[in-house]
Amino acid sequence: MARFTGKVILISGGARGQGAEEARLLVAEGARVVLGDVLEAEGAALAASLGPNAVFLRQDVTQPADWARAVAAAEALGGLHGLVNNAGIYQPKALMETTPELFERHMRVNQLGCFLGMQAVVPAMERAGGGAIVNISSTAGLRGSPHAIAYSATKWALRGMTKAAAIDLAPLNIRVNSVHPGPIDTDMLKVRPAEVNQRRLQAVPMRRQGTATEVAKLVLFLLSEDSAYMTGSELAIDGGASL
Ligand SMILES: NC(=O)c1ccc[n+]([C@@H]2O[C@H](COP(=O)([O-])OP(=O)(O)OC[C@H]3O[C@@H](n4cnc5c(N)ncnc54)[C@H](O)[C@@H]3O)[C@@H](O)[C@H]2O)c1
Repeated sequence: MARFTGKVILISGGARGQGAEEARLLVAEGARVVLGDVLEAEGAALAASLGPNAVFLRQDVTQPADWARAVAAAEALGGLHGLVNNAGIYQPKALMETTPELFERHMRVNQLGCFLGMQAVVPAMERAGGGAIVNISSTAGLRGSPHAIAYSATKWALRGMTKAAAIDLAPLNIRVNSVHPGPIDTDMLKVRPAEVNQRRLQAVPMRRQGTATEVAKLVLFLLSEDSAYMTGSELAIDGGASL
């Protein structure tokens, strides 16, 4: 039997990039997925390509009501067993160029969104007998990152929130782990000039970007029973960038 037969997984920011790849791999392994995103056209097209085991809904992770709709959509598919808090924004600016608005925008999407997501899924996961939450942080949540004060603040926060939630939720049989990707070849990095992305690889011992598929395989491991004794862990997937 496939690893995720009978399981329903909710992925925020699932319309493209890493979240979309996680959805593809999960459906291939028997899961049903609910994809939330603010990118409606991309999300709807992805769900259509995945067939009846994928549902897309417009979801802004900063809005509690959108989380409630997403959880309801998952339960309509047969319960809620996993959450990937994957939605994120990266609008890099150095400390002295960062406005309070830019700082707050990152906090709302990357950090508050993750908090709201964890809160929203707990009752449904309890009804399902337990579950697994994967919070997508970054190597920017493991070490210093240039020109990214606001993004870094949120990704370090996710690391701590993961550990706090892991303790709170262990009695409910809900595991919480964080994933810390290095540079991954998705649209997110297009905000930086190509030569900057190339130069940044000098700090990556493996000298290449990772792929969405490589991250998705790790996320599936953390969602699955293969990681049954792991909670509160922080896993870098970064070609050695955080060493
Ligand atoms: N690409 C990288 O190099 C890299 C490195 C480390 C961590 N990450 C993290 O990985 C995660 C996935 O990023 P990606 O690489 O797939 O990039 P991406 O930009 O393709 O995906 C991010 C998704 O989040 C969605 N999103 C943004 N704001 C949202 C909101 N308010 N509500 C719902 N959805 C929203 C976007 O529409 C997009 O689909 C993010 O949390 C990102 O910070 C990415």
